[in-house]
Amino acid sequence: MKVIITKDDHEMSVKAAEMIVEQVKQYPQSLLALSTGSTPIGTYQELVKLYQANQVDFSKAKCLNMDEYLGLNHQHLQGYYYFMNKHLYQYVNFQENNLFGPDAMNENIEESAREFDERIQQEGGIDLILLGIGRDGHIAFNMPDEKLQLKTHAQKLSDATIQDNARFFNSIEEVPTHAITIGINQLFNSKKVIMIANGENKSEIIRELLKLDTISTKLPASLLKIHPDFTLIIDQEAAKLL
Ligand code: PGA
Repeated sequence: MKVIITKDDHEMSVKAAEMIVEQVKQYPQSLLALSTGSTPIGTYQELVKLYQANQVDFSKAKCLNMDEYLGLNHQHLQGYYYFMNKHLYQYVNFQENNLFGPDAMNENIEESAREFDERIQQEGGIDLILLGIGRDGHIAFNMPDEKLQLKTHAQKLSDATIQDNARFFNSIEEVPTHAITIGINQLFNSKKVIMIANGENKSEIIRELLKLDTISTKLPASLLKIHPDFTLIIDQEAAKLL
């Protein structure tokens, strides 16, 4: 595990974007898994800048969404596909058929989960994942629990996560209570994993993640500590309790 502490959020975003660009330059057909949330927005802005400066070409790369609220379609303003399109896809040159995610509209969610895992396998597995971290240590929507699911699955969201995400909706009642999320297997089998965290509100979970000499399903992000190529990039605010 490699830890990079940056002076601020901007430098964190630049570092993460540089690593993604490096991956795509080296392997143009890479399958990327990019996350949603507030943390990666700056990284996507940097990717757009680098693309506009002809530093990277996404025309052969593929990109997936790791999770989605159940029942939200691609056009939903709080949906994760919409988010990626708004912040990244519309500005760069991914090909439409190289973008995918779990189908959160399928009433048979097991089928949707199976199809998503199969597509990842067909594409040869994930090359690089960019993750955020929830204040409770969740990764994608793998929430702290006694057990974690290996495969893509439907997940009930914790009250803390629903509260955290309410800021994107008109009211807390509108926040979906369930999501479909990639499982631990696909996350762990990614060749490279980058996690970014910024701001004081992530400082406690970052301290817990780095200070504990254990891994635990109660802190899903801790499993990544034994991933062979895991880089954690945090700004000074998130690092303040270290
Ligand atoms: P955030 O979400 O980037 O909005 O803080 C992180 C996460 O839940 O993974």
